[in-house]
Amino acid sequence: MKIITVASAKGGVGKSTFCCGIGRILASMGKRVLLADMDIGVRSLDILLGVSEKTVYNWGDVIKGNCDYRKAVLEAENNVFLLPAPIDFDEEYTTEAFSEMLCTMKKDFDYILLDAPAGLESGFRLAVGSADSCIVITTPDAISVRAASYASKSIRDGGVADVRLVVNRFDKKIHKHINVDDFIDTVSARLLGIIPESREIYCSVNGAEIPYDSKGNRAFLRVAQRICGENVPLKVKEL
Ligand SMILES: Nc1ncnc2c1ncn2[C@@H]1O[C@H](COP(=O)(O)OP(=O)(O)O)[C@@H](O)[C@H]1O
Ligand SMILES: [Mg+2]
Repeated sequence: MKIITVASAKGGVGKSTFCCGIGRILASMGKRVLLADMDIGVRSLDILLGVSEKTVYNWGDVIKGNCDYRKAVLEAENNVFLLPAPIDFDEEYTTEAFSEMLCTMKKDFDYILLDAPAGLESGFRLAVGSADSCIVITTPDAISVRAASYASKSIRDGGVADVRLVVNRFDKKIHKHINVDDFIDTVSARLLGIIPESREIYCSVNGAEIPYDSKGNRAFLRVAQRICGENVPLKVKEL
């Protein structure tokens, strides 16, 4: 069982999309995956997974003792489970309380992916405070690389040493002069994978399935295999 936080200090770089894509692939590999939305206030995973109508309870209710976690967790797809975020922050949502809650759920899942919000505040801190490892996402532009470097530093300061980098929305034609090694240096994290700019991934926001044999899905598959410890060689030209 592994708890992985997916973060970046910036919104809109693809954290939630990545969590869903990787979650679905891990599930197709037979793993039980819990996706926990850490964006207090502006949750999104319920929409991405097409279950917003079905969400009743959230992890805030579990921490407050309003319900058992089995009531708050819903199976969105086969082996892909969602734990929605609360709408408002509450002082009871401490790192200790959140970690304790995840501990009680551990036995039910192979992977728990924590989808961190933009910024480095409460949701981010809770997610980092419970993580075994973190994946920092950036897109190939200077602003999100800077945000990723802030996130990476904050994660290390929070005591998580295992930090990996994913470059999302990489377009071979547009970004042909970009050297991903520079991103690795700036963020100080080893590369876990590169996800291409992809129409299919973009459309998955509205619940459309990503075709199995598409470059976006193949990229998610390689990252998921690496997460599972398989030796999938990294080639910058892998797209
Ligand atoms: N690889 C990709 N190719 C094309 N569009 C993408 C890709 N990754 C994310 N997107 C799009 O970028 C937008 C922001 O993604 P989202 O996952 O909500 O970001 P975040 O969770 O970091 O705020 C969405 O419209 C999503 O469809
Ligand atoms: Mg998001």
